[in-house]
Amino acid sequence: MNILVINGSPKGKYSITLQTINYLERRFKDHSFSVLNAGQTIRAIEKDFSKSREMLLAADAIIFSYPVYTFIAPCQLHRFIELIKADGVDLSGKFVTQITTSKHFYDITAHRYIEDNCYDLGLKYIKGLSADMDDLLTEEGREVAEKFFAHFLWSVEQGLYESPVKRVSSYSQKAATKAESVEKEKRDVVIITDNTDEGSSLAKMIERFRAVLPYETRVVNIAEYPFSGGCLGCFNCAVSAKCVYKDGFDEFLRNNIQKADSIVYAFTVRDHSMGSRFKMYDDRNFCNGHRTVTVGMPIGYLVSGELSSEENLRNIIEARAEVGHNFLAGVATDERDPDAEIDALALQLDYALKNKYVHTQNFWGIGGMKIFRDLIYKMQGMMRADHKFYKKGGYYKDFPQRDKATIIKMYLVGFLLSNEKIRSKMGNAMNDGMLMPYKKMFDKMDKKSK
Ligand SMILES: Cc1cc2nc3c(=O)[nH]c(=O)nc-3n(C[C@H](O)[C@H](O)[C@H](O)COP(=O)(O)O)c2cc1C
Repeated sequence: MNILVINGSPKGKYSITLQTINYLERRFKDHSFSVLNAGQTIRAIEKDFSKSREMLLAADAIIFSYPVYTFIAPCQLHRFIELIKADGVDLSGKFVTQITTSKHFYDITAHRYIEDNCYDLGLKYIKGLSADMDDLLTEEGREVAEKFFAHFLWSVEQGLYESPVKRVSSYSQKAATKAESVEKEKRDVVIITDNTDEGSSLAKMIERFRAVLPYETRVVNIAEYPFSGGCLGCFNCAVSAKCVYKDGFDEFLRNNIQKADSIVYAFTVRDHSMGSRFKMYDDRNFCNGHRTVTVGMPIGYLVSGELSSEENLRNIIEARAEVGHNFLAGVATDERDPDAEIDALALQLDYALKNKYVHTQNFWGIGGMKIFRDLIYKMQGMMRADHKFYKKGGYYKDFPQRDKATIIKMYLVGFLLSNEKIRSKMGNAMNDGMLMPYKKMFDKMDKKSK
């Protein structure tokens, strides 16, 4: 087969992910591989899509090869997908899969994003490979990659592929209406949007939200921000916390966005994500490393589009709030009753700001932060700013190997449980033992309240 690799990494031939392709090329010599460096050359592709179209049309099968970037794919790949769709090149019926490398932090949402877009393009999607950055350098990793590709080829031969969940669209945009502006208290609520159309539904949503929220708001339009480009994945910021681009975004983010009392994101759903411009903004947030500097800050979303049928995007929205340990005050859309949803978002935000309200983190937040914690600990020599932040913030304190007291206690429990005689005599002692600290706490409380 003639296999086209769409390399979404902005690093081009220096992409770690691409090394898996280079490996497969050596192991599967009956097939020819050609690489389209979409991530690195996106600006040229924006100007002239003809070479990309030619390569896409010539392919028997396609592999999206890219790094996971902030829950999804790099903004350059988002843009490339926008360009494929705008061009209208017919790819239907071709087989497709994806290969990513990452630290497995939300690789699942990235894969789903590509999968959903493949269905839009009428491609026959075969489940992809999500590898750790270092996997290919291990024998096991190489074996997994090889088996994955053999399975891909077999699936093509057999004509086996995934089928999309059937969507029944009931979306008809409901415009938000104007509202009287309520009196404003002095707080800094920043609305980040990429909206460029003043007459759009999103613009109306923003307008109403600004009117009904009892706080001062300011709008940062990232469509107008003079970004020099998307994140290059150079990791320069890991040491210095400074971005290689000289467009001032790192300082702008720190001074004009992260210091706000609340952030509300406003976008229109595009290609199952928030669109390439928003993704550029998100990727460029990498200059902030893995530091959760806005913990406790309430956030909200104004979304134009059929979000109810975008399960993956909804997951991303929730997961981002969870990982950042932000209170997600609400996601108002223009699907059903935008006025009521916007007003509810304003109310929730008001409550959260007044009461400093935050939920406890769930699996998405805790699990995500554990991946970060392990990563930063290991890479502390390079990710210095992150390491300092994690040390100071006590992010390492739940390292299993550090909690010696629990380890010793568990050895003792393990010893007791492995002895049948002791176990038979224990009765309910184990349950009682586990409730002991709670009992102590309640006793203390009861004593106090007497
Ligand atoms: C801007 C940026 C965002 C990233 N976001 C994630 C992420 O959300 N999840 C993850 O597991 N790794 C993330 N990574 C790590 C990359 O996925 C990883 O380094 C990848 O192997 C790089 O592949 P490449 O060399 O092919 O570009 C991110 C890296 C960068 C530079």
